[in-house]
Amino acid sequence: MTRMSERLVSSSVSGDDDRFDRLFRPSRFDDYVGQRKHVDNLKIFVEAARRRGEPLDHTLLCGPPGLGKTTLAYILAKEMGVQVHSTSGPALEHKGALAGLLTKLEPGDVLFIDEIHRLNMAVEESLYPAIEDFEIDIVTGDGAFASSLKLALKPFCLVGATTRTGLLSAPLLSRFGYVMRLDYYPVEELVAIVERSAGLFGVPLDGSGALEMARRSRGTPRIANRLLRRVRDFAEVLGTGRIDEAIARTAAERLEIDGSGLDTMDRRLLSVIVDDYDGGPVGLDTLAAAMSEARDTIEDVYEPYLLQQGFLGRTPRGRVATRKAYQLLGKPVPASRSAAQPDLFDPE
Ligand SMILES: Nc1ncnc2c1ncn2[C@@H]1O[C@H](COP(=O)(O)OP(=O)(O)OP(=O)(O)O)[C@@H](O)[C@H]1O
Ligand SMILES: [Mg+2]
Repeated sequence: MTRMSERLVSSSVSGDDDRFDRLFRPSRFDDYVGQRKHVDNLKIFVEAARRRGEPLDHTLLCGPPGLGKTTLAYILAKEMGVQVHSTSGPALEHKGALAGLLTKLEPGDVLFIDEIHRLNMAVEESLYPAIEDFEIDIVTGDGAFASSLKLALKPFCLVGATTRTGLLSAPLLSRFGYVMRLDYYPVEELVAIVERSAGLFGVPLDGSGALEMARRSRGTPRIANRLLRRVRDFAEVLGTGRIDEAIARTAAERLEIDGSGLDTMDRRLLSVIVDDYDGGPVGLDTLAAAMSEARDTIEDVYEPYLLQQGFLGRTPRGRVATRKAYQLLGKPVPASRSAAQPDLFDPE
């Protein structure tokens, strides 16, 4: 087993995760916990589109891994009563692959493109007329005999998902009728998610056990479900099978997840900045090299939560550890960190 797949916080989804993601994945709006404001809007759009007999407007779902983007794409299709055709930016290598998918769509169907920020430019450009006018240009023949013809498509709904809105081109971004940014989930919502999943598993769970797991799930439903699976193991082997606060805490401690939900990599990232770079600023590439991690993993997986929780700040010159980070690591806060940090900014 690799180091990444053993960890609860990880950008990679293993085969096991896939199976459980599907088991736990809500299939209707009513089972989807939280993100209330957006979900209420989506319900209206679905209802309006259904009444008009039109496809849903193109929708972009953005947010860190594990917050429920794929889940929502499937829910949208189910609530619309249509099929989902699923692909991803890197899988659509050339225009022909996209054309093959588009011509298969039935009226109103959902075309789900995961990691849509990773579409190559040629494919992306051939997507524009498809989403705007429901037509594509097909080139036939070669060289001097090449000719282009327009092919009409059935009206469909594009649902894109991305962990990095910042990397989407402006022309693509502007073609979505609704852009939904998913936020990390508050503890109460994670409690509801853990309780729902425990019910599906048939594992007895105390309220205090659910709360303990929710607090340590980094605001992320996928992590909450992964943690539940591990805690269930501890409960079955070390306890009576019932998950209570004590067993949830023991399991989390053994998995090295602390009370704020941070794991070893989160703490390592902060301690590299604090111990090796005097609290920063330190550039992303330097940080990635010091941690032997991919730059993208740091930006997509670790940073967003640490920023949201106020452990990390972004400045024009790089990342800085905040007072809260020093306190977490049990280090004295230097005078320079005690004052407000007016230069913190978030470029996204
Ligand atoms: N709002 C929610 N309510 C209940 N369960 C949820 C919710 N959001 C996500 N989940 C659970 O978390 C799992 C992961 O969600 P999902 O696969 O949709 O995340 P994602 O945003 O697509 O992640 P990635 O960026 O890695 O593709 C789902 O299988 C589901 O069990
Ligand atoms: Mg997904």
